[in-house]
Amino acid sequence: TVALYHKNVIDHYENPRNVGSLDKNDKMVGTGLVGAPACGDVMKLQVKVDDQGNIVEAKFKTFGCGSAIASSSLATEWIKGKNVDDAAKIKNTDIAKELCLPPVKLHCSMLAEDAIRAAVNDWKVKQGKTEG
Ligand code: FES
Repeated sequence: TVALYHKNVIDHYENPRNVGSLDKNDKMVGTGLVGAPACGDVMKLQVKVDDQGNIVEAKFKTFGCGSAIASSSLATEWIKGKNVDDAAKIKNTDIAKELCLPPVKLHCSMLAEDAIRAAVNDWKVKQGKTEG
C-alpha cells in the first residue's frame, strides 16, 4: 500500500535532524531503545544531560518507517534544551499532531514517546535517582 505522507513528515524524513549516536557509557548519557510490537520497527534515542538536568544533546537511530523516522527527528529537536522531566512529558499525540500523522501511524509516534521516556529513565538510573 502507498502511504500518503504530510509535508511535515517528508521534511523530517528527507532531512532528519540529529541522526547518530552518543557514547552510551558516558554517565551523563541516557539511552532508550524501544520497539513497536505491531510492526517490529526499532528506535534508539539518546540524550546528554547537564548537571542541572537539562538536555544538551539528543541523537537517534531509527530502523523503521518514514513516520517513525520523522517522529524521532522531531522528538530530538523538541527535547533539546528541555529539562528531563519536561521532556518525559511529551506525548505521542503532540508529535502526531505536528506531523499530521494519520491514525494508522499513531504507533510510530508512540515509539518516540516511549524512547524519550526510556532515555530519560536510563539517565536517572545512572544518576542513582531511581531504582533500575
Ligand atoms: Fe511501525 Fe511506523 S509502521 S513504526
